[in-house]
Amino acid sequence: TERPYVVDEMISAKTIAARIEDLAREIGREYADTEKLVVVGLLRGSFVFIADLVRELDLPVEVDFLEASSYGDAMQSSREVRILKDLRSPIEGRDVLVVEDIVDTGFTLHHVLKLLSSREPRKLRTIALLDKPARREVALKADWTGFEIPDEFVVGYGIDFAQRNRNLPFIGKVRFPEA
Ligand code: PRP
Ligand code: MN
Ligand code: MG
Repeated sequence: TERPYVVDEMISAKTIAARIEDLAREIGREYADTEKLVVVGLLRGSFVFIADLVRELDLPVEVDFLEASSYGDAMQSSREVRILKDLRSPIEGRDVLVVEDIVDTGFTLHHVLKLLSSREPRKLRTIALLDKPARREVALKADWTGFEIPDEFVVGYGIDFAQRNRNLPFIGKVRFPEA
């Protein structure tokens, strides 16, 4: 049985879209010389963000996915990151951008970056839509961040709570009303 909760809007779909336009412009400058940029989405949370981001990128782009999971259905990180699905293509010598929905403890992105940098890409950068610095346990920051947020459990725009709410078009925070 599930404890009932409500979701309060925190970042609107419009605000997210405007921020993604800016981020895409900055990424375009950083990779202006690229032959082709491999944009790597971390499943499942980043599927909405990567879809919107790549459509704003005015660069030759290839899209690939890697599935990492640490939370399962829990509200707390397990701190054990498992790679459930690896990239389809080799990235040695290539330009790579890792797309993440949120950096919380930092374990997921840390683990993924360690793995991908061992494959010796030409340039490896990261972008996270959300950053929750209050919860960081591994010192690390994405090269680009959409929004810094306070220590709230957020859902929507790809992010789930026990696999629900990924389809909300905005970022909201989970609230448990008093019984
Ligand atoms: C969530 C989120 C990030 C990660 C961030 O993924 O999408 O990938 O946790 O947390 P961390 O910085 O504490 O590691 P989750 O493991 O829930 O898998 P999902 O993307 O499939 O929901
Ligand atoms: Mn994730
Ligand atoms: Mg999750």
